[in-house]
Amino acid sequence: MGLPLIMGVFFNEILFGFIYLSFVGFVLKGCDGSVLLNSTANNQAEKDGPPNISLHAFYVIDHAKKALEAVCPGTVSCADIVALAARDAVHLSGGPTWVVPKGRKDGRISRASETRQLAAPTSNISQLQQSFSQRGLSMEDLVALSGGHTLGFAHCSSFQNRIHNFATTQDVDPSMHKSFAASLRSVCPMHNKVRSAGANLDSTPTTFDNRYYKLLLDGKSIFTSDQALLTNPTTNTLVKKFADSREEFEKAFVESMIKMSSITGGQEVRLNCRFVN
Ligand code: HEM
Ligand SMILES: *[C@@H]1O[C@H](CO)[C@@H](O)[C@H](O)[C@H]1NC(C)=O
Ligand SMILES: *[C@@H]1O[C@H](CO)[C@@H](O)[C@H](O)[C@H]1NC(C)=O
Ligand SMILES: *[C@@H]1O[C@H](CO)[C@@H](O)[C@H](O)[C@H]1NC(C)=O
Repeated sequence: MGLPLIMGVFFNEILFGFIYLSFVGFVLKGCDGSVLLNSTANNQAEKDGPPNISLHAFYVIDHAKKALEAVCPGTVSCADIVALAARDAVHLSGGPTWVVPKGRKDGRISRASETRQLAAPTSNISQLQQSFSQRGLSMEDLVALSGGHTLGFAHCSSFQNRIHNFATTQDVDPSMHKSFAASLRSVCPMHNKVRSAGANLDSTPTTFDNRYYKLLLDGKSIFTSDQALLTNPTTNTLVKKFADSREEFEKAFVESMIKMSSITGGQEVRLNCRFVN
């Protein structure tokens, strides 16, 4: 229940929003659905903090929640809905599927300021490692989960650090493939005025495959945090392994998604995902 409803809405924007949401949600508070909460008069919620998550994804979660409440009141948490939606979004894009451990509870606190704990797209390898290890995730989890960037889209603001004023002597990140960087600069000029402008995260952005790793080895990744995976011997070796084998990537991705979504911390089954009970 709930899942056919989600699957009925087959818009990539929404699907990939779920996957990103499952990551953003976990990093902030453990998978407690706090990322879904609306701001209130005296609290700015995570949702309204720095990383922009597709608003449409929130509406679909609301619909699934409504359908579930009609059938099994107070039973399925918003955090479980997000974890299931992310799993289905991956599978619908041609990726693997897996059994999501259920029974998460939703949290009662959501603060915009805490989104700062998220690894940023400008993070280097030590910052990524720190952010992941604080939550019990390894370097292998980091490399496998970054493969989520086989799907979806990023706005110019998320990667402009690499294509304008990168360093005092270089305008563009020298680790980027030259013509790839030039094409990003043409869609994202220095003073970009087009709010929706940006780039796909890989060249097959609606297919869940291992292309992301191949492009990464070619200097064609979008974020500094992607490129950073090549700067450490352990993560570099894993990037090569996943570029060589889609099977190895999928196996590791599933393991890490399950691990990521097992980190919990909530207290209740929220009745409306946007508000605490
Ligand atoms: C390693 C640290 C990570 C960083 C720094 C990061 C950063 C980002 C940023 C900045 C965006 C684009 C936001 C925008 O410009 O609109 C994005 C998009 C995305 N991320 Fe990540 N991410 C990370 C890990 C993950 C993980 C673990 C997953 C899932 C397994 C994931 C899945 C996605 C997806 C699917 C999108 C596309 C969303 C869409 O098209 O709406 N990311 N990420
Ligand atoms: C929650 O916030 C969104 C925008 O931030 C708004 O459109 C929506 O109406 C709010 N939901 C409720 C139920 O107040
Ligand atoms: C990553 O960035 C931090 C903060 O700027 C810096 O202290 C650290 O040395 C950097 N690490 C690497 C590996 O570049
Ligand atoms: C997020 O939205 C804000 C304002 O709505 C915008 O200034 C910022 O550039 C956006 N960031 C991303 C990563 O899209």
